Amino acid sequence: MIPILDLKPEIEALWPEISLALERVVRSGHFILGEEGARFEQEVAHFLEVPYAVGLNSGTDALVIALRALGVGPGDEVITTPFTFFGTAEAISLVGARPVFADIRPKFFDIDPDKILITNRTKAILPVHLFGQSADMDRIIEIGQKANVPIIEDVAQAFGGRRHGRRLGSLGTVGCFSFFPTKNLGAFGDAGLVVTSDPELALQARKLRTHGSIERYRNETLGYNSRLDELQAAILRIKLPRVEAMNAARNVAARLYTDLLSDMPGVGCTPHSESHVYHQFTIRIRDGRRNAVVESLKKAGVSTIVYYPTPVHQLPVYQHLAISCPIAEQAAQEVLSLPIWPQMTPAIQHTVVNAIANALGVKSSTRAQLFGRASHGSEAHPGL
Ligand SMILES: Cc1ncc(COP(=O)(O)O)c(C=O)c1O
Repeated sequence: MIPILDLKPEIEALWPEISLALERVVRSGHFILGEEGARFEQEVAHFLEVPYAVGLNSGTDALVIALRALGVGPGDEVITTPFTFFGTAEAISLVGARPVFADIRPKFFDIDPDKILITNRTKAILPVHLFGQSADMDRIIEIGQKANVPIIEDVAQAFGGRRHGRRLGSLGTVGCFSFFPTKNLGAFGDAGLVVTSDPELALQARKLRTHGSIERYRNETLGYNSRLDELQAAILRIKLPRVEAMNAARNVAARLYTDLLSDMPGVGCTPHSESHVYHQFTIRIRDGRRNAVVESLKKAGVSTIVYYPTPVHQLPVYQHLAISCPIAEQAAQEVLSLPIWPQMTPAIQHTVVNAIANALGVKSSTRAQLFGRASHGSEAHPGL
């Protein structure tokens, strides 16, 4: 079976360093808020080109803590996308605020700036860089600045991505990252990060991650137990210097998929972008055939995932809001994420694409044309 993601090649390649780091941390007897975490915060801040980085327990906590640090709470509204992982909206509700869902753009699956309607209850805008591609930050920042509303970037799926040369996460008021193991920079358990250029917000995030205290036993507010632990920080420090190469390899794989699939009848492809870090490679299967294609691929030994089968506003927890976001609803019926990981070979990709062509009954003459064209245009994968 071709998996959706294979973490083993990276773990094997890095094992000598990983085993030493694990031993170093365990033998130090220091597991929470030590040197590894502090160094990771410095290194990741440098990588992301931001002055402040605060290591946390998860991406969900990063969003909750960013919202709390900005003073968002009961009675407030936060505008976000309905086409994301539930955790984005959940964080808004967890701080007592109300998520206001603005529909998405059909081509890129991101929040549509034209649907962002600011009211006097709007306390933040929370765009998501979905699947590894930047949301339309130029427009979103313009809207935020005009209304004096902060922007919280959900960068859980786009570590290392850029927009106009600048790192995602450094564009808005706060950037929130997840290091869930499957992410482009993944820990060996749950981990997250908040970044900002505002020293006051960074201080608040530090306070909130340790039960509302900076000074031990002097709790100033209700906070959380949400620290990045030393073992995860040590793993992330090993992977961080490699993430650029890994993202480049994902981009090469994505280009080949795009070449092979963009003219396949019944398939919809987002145009290739060099700044996209392809956490997911997601296509559309049109004409109501998506679920049948999933079944056919499974029989052919190809794993796929539907991100996301239900848009957030239609999940049971938010059904009472009774709103409609037709573009997100249609996307949920059509999207399909294909296997992708940095060390994936072109041969595996050809198997995946052939299985899709079989599932859709694409004629062999059309198929030969698509494959012939892609073999001229695609580069070889860099050896990793
Ligand atoms: C877009 C998005 N936001 C938030 C999260 C939450 O991150 P975590 O699982 O680390 O809590 C995730 C990932 O799982 C995500 O994909």
